[in-house]
Amino acid sequence: MRVRPSNHPPLPLLVVIPTYDEIEALPGTLERLRAAVPAAHVLVVDDASPDGTGQWAQQQAQTDPAVHVLHREGKQGLGPAYLAGFAWGLERGYALLAEMDADASHRPEQLPGLVEAVRRGADLAIGSRWVPCGQVHHWPLRRLLLSRGANTYVRLWLGIGVADATAGFRVFRAELLQRLMDQTIASQGYCFQVDMTRRARELGALITEVPIDFDERTEGASKMSGDIVREALVKVTAWGLARRTQQLRGLLR
Ligand code: GDD
Ligand code: MN
Repeated sequence: MRVRPSNHPPLPLLVVIPTYDEIEALPGTLERLRAAVPAAHVLVVDDASPDGTGQWAQQQAQTDPAVHVLHREGKQGLGPAYLAGFAWGLERGYALLAEMDADASHRPEQLPGLVEAVRRGADLAIGSRWVPCGQVHHWPLRRLLLSRGANTYVRLWLGIGVADATAGFRVFRAELLQRLMDQTIASQGYCFQVDMTRRARELGALITEVPIDFDERTEGASKMSGDIVREALVKVTAWGLARRTQQLRGLLR
């Protein structure tokens, strides 16, 4: 259901920032983002953070018309948070919708490069750590190995031809996102990022990877967990098996 009359020009860019307990990191990230891309609107999607992140963001929204907040009942995972934020943005007619972490792991100053890739024709621009010139700074070795391992597994098993399918710094063209949102996306954790990438590929979307610098957070704590890793392993394996079964059926026809 669109709330913005279709004869109005599309709004610029909406940056969706999911938050859970980000009261230390979000203020600095928001300040940098507003300075780096002043025309962008921001939607903070807070899952009832016990540390008051949602209330802090609400105060910002009172004085800054470009900042909006979506308060949710409880911690439901990265995927549902993004889906709720995307639905909010699509209903309001944003032409481009971005994903970005609250902890400044993604440099707001590098967002224009992703926007430019979409303006040049990509349906989805991914801020990629694992393409030439992509870099990771101060990440613990176990996270490096996890990300490298996960992305290698995804690339070999799903064959979606993307080096950083788990990345959380992206810009979607609204038309692609609307088609993705018409599907049932049940991924809870960070495999949501892989899920959106594989579905975009299946829809024939033009996906461009733009090298970025990923900085380990200096405030707050990562929400990565064993459950998130387990869900990703199970789901990526199942998606790959379904893909191969489909390929086999095609050969046997
Ligand atoms: N609303 C909401 N609900 N936000 C959440 C939830 C949740 O359940 N879980 C995490 N977040 C938010 C965090 O507050 C942060 O803004 C963002 O999602 C990413 O969470 P981090 O905890 O910072 O993730 P990470 O840095 O360990 O993981 C990075 O790498 C992953 C794998 O490559 C992130 O960039 C992820 O987006 C990425 O998928
Ligand atoms: Mn992070």
